[in-house]
Amino acid sequence: MAWLVAHEQESVSRLMDWLRIPSVSTQPKHKGDCERAAAWAADRLRECGLRVEVLPTGEPAGSGHPVVLAKAPGASWYRGPHVLFYGHYDVQPPEPLELWESPPFEPVIRPASGEVGERIVARGAVDDKGQVMAFLEALRAWSEIASSKPANGTSGEGVAAGVRVTVLLEGEEESGSVNLERFVERHAERLGKCDVCVISDTGMLGRGRPAITYGVRGLTYTEVVLHGPNQDLHSGLWGGRCPNPINELVKVLAGLWDEDRRVTIPGFYDDVRPLTPEEREGWRRLGFDAADALRKIGLPPEADVGEAGFTAMEREWARPTCDINGIVGGYTGEGAKTVIASHARAKVSFRLVADQDPAKITAAFFAWLRERTPPGCRWEFIEHGGGFPATVQTDSPTLRAARRALERAAGRAPDLIKSGGSIPVAGLLKQRLGLDTVFMGFGLDDDRVHSPNEKFELECFRLGARAHVALLDELARMGEGG
Ligand code: BES
Ligand code: MN
Ligand code: MN
Repeated sequence: MAWLVAHEQESVSRLMDWLRIPSVSTQPKHKGDCERAAAWAADRLRECGLRVEVLPTGEPAGSGHPVVLAKAPGASWYRGPHVLFYGHYDVQPPEPLELWESPPFEPVIRPASGEVGERIVARGAVDDKGQVMAFLEALRAWSEIASSKPANGTSGEGVAAGVRVTVLLEGEEESGSVNLERFVERHAERLGKCDVCVISDTGMLGRGRPAITYGVRGLTYTEVVLHGPNQDLHSGLWGGRCPNPINELVKVLAGLWDEDRRVTIPGFYDDVRPLTPEEREGWRRLGFDAADALRKIGLPPEADVGEAGFTAMEREWARPTCDINGIVGGYTGEGAKTVIASHARAKVSFRLVADQDPAKITAAFFAWLRERTPPGCRWEFIEHGGGFPATVQTDSPTLRAARRALERAAGRAPDLIKSGGSIPVAGLLKQRLGLDTVFMGFGLDDDRVHSPNEKFELECFRLGARAHVALLDELARMGEGG
């Protein structure tokens, strides 16, 4: 911990170097930047004494963004769990650029507005480079401490506190992790040797209030196109004579929710694990202020709407939802144009909870649309990936170690929370390899994840690094003797 304090400036400046690489995974023009960001992280891991490989993904090999896979072998005495640390080096597109107060890939340190401390502003600051960096700096702290002690000859002793760690840094998390499934399959033997996954890519309920996230939602993301006439038409001559794909599409999609804002697709809720009374009571005690959260996004208290019968927190953490994320068609330029477009397009996604299956939900949605095909029209369906939800045991030894580590780092016990966001790898590791994940994240509600002016508070970065130092120590203690 002392090393972290003494070398904080260097840690922050390393993070800023990484943030300067625009590793936007969804935009083909940034392919080279993704490779650079991967190579950069690989170099940092090597500096900490890990054995590192940068592996191509995709079919053909190299069409996807590379995965950084590294290993700290663990000391000969280590008997504790083999931990897989996962993070992602890719970031969301920075657009719209005009809303950034400083360029997205030129990180700056600013005073935290209205609060004490400073923050780092850049795309990827909190999601996820800053959080991965907190872990990398913890590895560095351990390797520095070990190398300043006389070597005792035990292999791997100095690296990662002697804990057996595999590090997997992905470059496609923000674009749906499309090549990850095959990667995990191909390296199943190696990854299967791990006992538990640790991910730092989630948030906390407030400043200095550490949290462990024990569940994230799943996702399936689709695009649907409704095709009508084979050409755009004059709406005076054809309006009322043939289907207008935009009219028809919005009419069909509007039927996705009933009066209670429940999704109407038959069977949609069949596999949803019900909330237990204990869970509801526990969450109530966390003291989440729904009206205050709404106020911060410019909405009045009456905007607290969603599936009937559940609180905002329950809806985010434990209930599935459907959202139209984009809808386009027809004339969208300046002024008026009287036209009936030949087709209309919508991006529709579903957030899922345990034990829903993304493929099953996608199939049910497409079947539901087919049954409602407007006369004379035709659907085109496109799938953009997603992932399984992940809910993990709250009493596993590793999760307990993380609780102790957070308590040591923050001076108070962590909240046990869930999140409505998705991290596809967690469900994948559970499905394919039976691995549970401990989500130990350090983001705040107002970090503007995926938005212009994304930031990470240095206070949170610090807490993250300290917590990872403590976690490695807790794991090492678990693995002593035996
Ligand atoms: N780190 C986020 C998810 C997240 C954010 C979880 C805050 C909990 C708290 C992750 O990078 C993300 O954005 N995931 C996408 C997944 C998608 C692109 C497959 C999401 O949730 O939309
Ligand atoms: Mn993330
Ligand atoms: Mn993200």
